[in-house]
Amino acid sequence: MCGIVGYIGKKDATPFLIEGLRALEYRGYDSAGIYVAGQGVLKRVGKVDMLTKAIPKTFSGNAGIAHTRWATHGSPTEANAHPHTDTAEEVLLVHNGIIENYHELRNELESEGIIFYSDTDTEVLAKIIGQTYTADTLLEDAVTRALARVRGTYGIAVMSRREPEKIVATRLGSSLLIGIGTDGYYIASDATPVLPHAREVIYLDDGEMAILTLETYAVRNAIKTLVEKSPETLEWDAESVKKQGYEHFMLKEIMEMPEVIKNTLRGRLDPDEGTSILGGLRDVMPRLAHIRRLIITGCGSAYYAGLVGQELIEEFSGIPVEVEIASELRYRRFTGDPEHTVLLAVSQSGETADTLEAIRIAKRHGMLTLGIVNAVGSSIARETDAGVYNHAGPEIGVASTKGFVSQVAVLALIALMFGRQRSLSEKEGRELVEALTILPEKAAEILTRTDSIAEAARSFTSTQNALYIGRKYQCPVAYEGALKLKEISYIHAEGYSAGEMKHGPIALIEPSFPTIAIAPRDSLYEKICSNIEEIRARSGRVIAITTDGNTGLTRLADHIFYVPETHEALLPILTTIPLQLFAYHVARERGLPIDKPRNLAKSVTVE
Ligand code: F6R
Repeated sequence: MCGIVGYIGKKDATPFLIEGLRALEYRGYDSAGIYVAGQGVLKRVGKVDMLTKAIPKTFSGNAGIAHTRWATHGSPTEANAHPHTDTAEEVLLVHNGIIENYHELRNELESEGIIFYSDTDTEVLAKIIGQTYTADTLLEDAVTRALARVRGTYGIAVMSRREPEKIVATRLGSSLLIGIGTDGYYIASDATPVLPHAREVIYLDDGEMAILTLETYAVRNAIKTLVEKSPETLEWDAESVKKQGYEHFMLKEIMEMPEVIKNTLRGRLDPDEGTSILGGLRDVMPRLAHIRRLIITGCGSAYYAGLVGQELIEEFSGIPVEVEIASELRYRRFTGDPEHTVLLAVSQSGETADTLEAIRIAKRHGMLTLGIVNAVGSSIARETDAGVYNHAGPEIGVASTKGFVSQVAVLALIALMFGRQRSLSEKEGRELVEALTILPEKAAEILTRTDSIAEAARSFTSTQNALYIGRKYQCPVAYEGALKLKEISYIHAEGYSAGEMKHGPIALIEPSFPTIAIAPRDSLYEKICSNIEEIRARSGRVIAITTDGNTGLTRLADHIFYVPETHEALLPILTTIPLQLFAYHVARERGLPIDKPRNLAKSVTVE
């Protein structure tokens, strides 16, 4: 969704602002705009390239802000693109988030004669900052006063033509960080634009404001008291946000899978005790030893990873687990005993608004909150009481691939930890540790088999609908496979428990309707085989995913993708990979924008 970049320092701001906007493109957007001190505001609808083509060579200055907008209030037009200005056109504002009371504020301002040029909530904030920015007021004080009137969420960067050597940045519920470079200060809504320029960053917390000038910076809190914030070091390297020769980020991120699994597991397996070592949970371990209920929450793929986690945790530990979509959980009544209930939030970006809100509500109810987060320093990582990082590296493709797989790998580690605290024997624990240790090699093996997946994808290009089925551990994999196909190839796909076929979906089956059956040789293999037989008996097309050496499906499936055998509980980590590759190749055959599918954003920072 919307992205913010800013720079103030010794260099010309424009090259970084453009490069930064490009680095933020992956978040999803439909228009872009830039302001550089001493120059003007430029905005364009469409790609960042449209904006860069419009920027004259002379467009330079030591400070500037820029924005990619994902339309919420008002369609994607130049008028609605950021930066927005106040009535005097002195204040320039870029904003992520939503001003919830913008409607009433706008009515009020309009009744005072203020004219609006856009449909956005952001322009309302710009106009209010302008009203409070009297001749003897500093920009930061005007912003503080204006923000006292708004309700909602924001990450903002503000400049003023009157104080051109200053940028004010502040947040509430929408991430913002400051990169401390040797040649200046960088502002960004996530770390990716900053990576090539600064390793030391300050993550602003809610209510904090950074005041950046050419030579120095200060951070103060909502009551204007200065706060000392120690910079944190960014782990990710700049290379990891490049395509490195791959046609798409999505393919690169799938091909990284063996390394990703290795990084997620590194240092976290204890082969002697047959358990996992999760440093991020150490402080809350005494409380975890006594929990009676676990609620896992997340959105989209993260929610599906949570469903795999539910199977794993219940199977290994016997702890009752519920998995709730965060956008629903936040409006449910919390019941039960908060002292013995834990909320585990799963999020690749760490910025998903619904997931964040579910965490805040759980905290208000006195629950312990944990996170499985990939983006270090993100809001969810900071707001949960404890957690485990995925260490998957930046995920740029909008469709989550390594994010999902690493989430399942972390959940397997958590399940192992809970299991060994409770009912899982040392022997079983050791078997799992052994299986996890060689999982990266097995994932690598799958990646040598991409040709047959690409070939099957070619026969799928004119397909309109598809059904994905699985059981137990593979049921959430079916949901995830269907989500992957629909979001990047725009083919309607549904994931179903195979056991549900007779209760409705089998009515869809006819020769042109394909089913993707995830049927490894596991404890429910015979059951899913019966479902496949029933599909075949109705002349349905079948693509099957199964384990190496299984010849039982040859007669039943039009295409089969094989994955190496592993512990049944870890199979979702492997069976997901061919489904991701399949969706990728179908979308590629259809010539679609794989890394940035229509209407989607990488980081869903609004409700
Ligand atoms: C699907 C996908 C989304 C995300 C969801 C949650 O491929 O990427 O469904 O999984 O928006 O995002 P995070 O994990 O960042 O909270």
